[in-house]
Amino acid sequence: MTGPVIRPRRLRTTAALRRMVAETSVEARQLVLPLFVREGIDEPVPISSMPGVVQHSRSSLLAAVGEAAELGLGGVILFGVPETKDAVGSGAVDPAGILNVAITDVVAEVGDAITVIGDLCIDEFTDHGHCGVLTPDGRVDNDGTLEVYAEMARAMAAAGADMVAPSGMMDGQVAAIRGALDGAAHTDVSIMAYSTKYASAFYGPFREAVDSSLTGDRRTYQQDGGNAVEGVREALLDVAQGADLVMVKPALAYLDVLRRVRDAVDVPVAAYNVSGEYAMLEAAAAQGWIDREAAILETLTSIRRAGADVVLTYWAAEAARLLAR
Ligand code: PBG
Repeated sequence: MTGPVIRPRRLRTTAALRRMVAETSVEARQLVLPLFVREGIDEPVPISSMPGVVQHSRSSLLAAVGEAAELGLGGVILFGVPETKDAVGSGAVDPAGILNVAITDVVAEVGDAITVIGDLCIDEFTDHGHCGVLTPDGRVDNDGTLEVYAEMARAMAAAGADMVAPSGMMDGQVAAIRGALDGAAHTDVSIMAYSTKYASAFYGPFREAVDSSLTGDRRTYQQDGGNAVEGVREALLDVAQGADLVMVKPALAYLDVLRRVRDAVDVPVAAYNVSGEYAMLEAAAAQGWIDREAAILETLTSIRRAGADVVLTYWAAEAARLLAR
C-alpha cells in the first residue's frame, strides 16, 4: 500500500516547525491603540458596548499611553470627547480643546517612545454629529469643511502630534491638510489618511464611545460597501495628495479591498479593526461561544495576511501581551 508522496502535513508536525514556516506574523510594533479622552471627568467611564474599553480622563489617559509605550506598540490614536458641542465643531480647532490638550499631555509623558496620532475629524465636536460643517440647507459642505480641517491640523501639530489621521472622507482633505501643515512649518508631521472608509454598521459602538449626536447616516461622504474599485481610487487619490500612509476601514468585512489597496499603492497600508468588530467578538466570548484569545490573534493575523502593515485595534495592548508569552 502506498500513501501520498506529497504531504503538506509534514510541516505542521511540531509547534517549532509551524513557527519556522509561518508566513504571517503580528508584532506589537505594528499595532496602534485607539484611546478616547473625555473632557471634565476624573475617573474613566466604561463604554458598555465595548467591554474593557473606557473613556479616559486626562490622567488615566497618560497611564494608558505609558503602558502602550512600554509594551512596544507602534502608536496610539486619540479621540476627544468634548463637554460642549456646536454646529462648526469649535472644540476641535481650539488649542484648549480636549483633544489638543490631551495630545500635549501625552507627548510630554512619552516623548518619542511611541507615535502619537490624532484623529482629525469634527464629528465628536459637532452638535449634529456630522464629520463636516453644514450648508444652510443641511448638506455636508465639502470645501467649507476643508478649511476647518486645515485649522484642526495646525492645532494638532502645534499641540505636538507626530501624525494626523483625517477620517472625514471629504474630497481633497489630504491636500488641504498637507498644505496647512507645510504652511505652518510642520513638514515633519505625517498623515495617515482614512482613504478607503465605508459607511458601516460596524461603527455602532464607537458612537457610544464618543457620545455621538448623529442622527441619520454618513452615506453622502463615506463609501458604499459594495464598491472595491472606488476604494482603490480613493487610496490612490490620497497618495497623490501626499498621504504618508493610507487606511482601509473597517477591516474584517473589507479584507479583499485591503488586499487590492495593498497591491495598488507604494506607501504603508493600515487597517482599522473597528468597534463593532471588537464588540461582536467580545460578546460571543462573554457567552462562552468562542475562544477569546485565540479569536483575537486569528483576527489580527487575518488582517495582516490580507495586506495591512499597521493594524488599529482596541486589542493592541492585550495582543502585545499575548504575543510576548
Ligand atoms: C470618525 C470616526 C469614526 C470611527 C473612527 N473615526 C466613526 C464614523 O466614521 O462614523 C469609527 C471607529 C470604530 O468604529 O471603531 N471620526
